[in-house]
Amino acid sequence: MSLAETEDLPVFHLEAVTYHYPDGEIGIHELDLTVHERERIVLLGANGSGKSTLLRVLDGLIFPGKGTVRAFGQVLNEKNLNVDRLNLDFRRRVGFVFQNSETQLFSSTVWDEIAFGPLHMGMSVPQIRERVSELLEFFGIEAIRDRPPFKLSGGEKKKVALAAVMATNPDVLLLDEPTAALDPRTERWLIDMLVQLGESGKTLITATHNLDIVEEISDRVVVFGENHRVAATGPPSELLSEKELLLRVNLIDPRFHKHFHNGDHRHYHIHD
Ligand SMILES: Nc1ncnc2c1ncn2[C@@H]1O[C@H](COP(=O)(O)OP(=O)(O)OP(=O)(O)O)[C@@H](O)[C@H]1O
Ligand SMILES: [Mg+2]
Repeated sequence: MSLAETEDLPVFHLEAVTYHYPDGEIGIHELDLTVHERERIVLLGANGSGKSTLLRVLDGLIFPGKGTVRAFGQVLNEKNLNVDRLNLDFRRRVGFVFQNSETQLFSSTVWDEIAFGPLHMGMSVPQIRERVSELLEFFGIEAIRDRPPFKLSGGEKKKVALAAVMATNPDVLLLDEPTAALDPRTERWLIDMLVQLGESGKTLITATHNLDIVEEISDRVVVFGENHRVAATGPPSELLSEKELLLRVNLIDPRFHKHFHNGDHRHYHIHD
């Protein structure tokens, strides 16, 4: 069965997935998750709770010791990703913007970085030129097209990483703290872009610490507890008003946090 023939299957289906890093550290524990096409999911959780680990599992970068991961109906394991056709299909459909752009960028110029994916996917040279130009313009990074990515600022690197992932137009975007390192205006621009991508039918899975953007960019929130397990899942409007839950998973500080009202009025509040 080819991945392309499985449109009606969930994008991801995880059953009791446990991942231990090679040094024995636990990344995620007994995780069940189904992600449907066009769903927009936000992963919330304190530092070290397992968000990035889950995204790496979903991108087929690491493989769980226990449990099963399916992508588009196909078991996502090393063996299947070694089959060229399945690998290319999967890589074409799923793009991952890493938490740390430095580990993602490897080319000698920004232009080459953005061209890499399309080249790998077999696009013709004129098509690649056009695609890269579009992305440079869209991300407002034409001026840095010839610079080495490793010499850019944090926010510039993030834009290049995003442009490089978008270059192959994936159906599913995995985004690990995409707004970190961005200035407020660029952050707003990115959120608007994520909203538009959602409207255009993409499946979006975003890990973030930025509670202010959760409602805009998600239909469902998955909250990780400190034991690397899912502590709660539900619509953002419901979960964000559950103060006890947010305190318990260390997402808000007991003394300084925003009050979430049912309306759109929010304010910071310091408790004695
Ligand atoms: N490369 C690694 N080797 C060993 N342990 C790791 C590695 N990466 C993460 N871990 C551990 O796995 C657990 C989950 O980490 P993960 O990076 O998934 O958390 P996170 O929710 O993304 O945190 P953050 O909000 O800080 O990005 C943590 O206990 C972490 O120390
Ligand atoms: Mg992380």
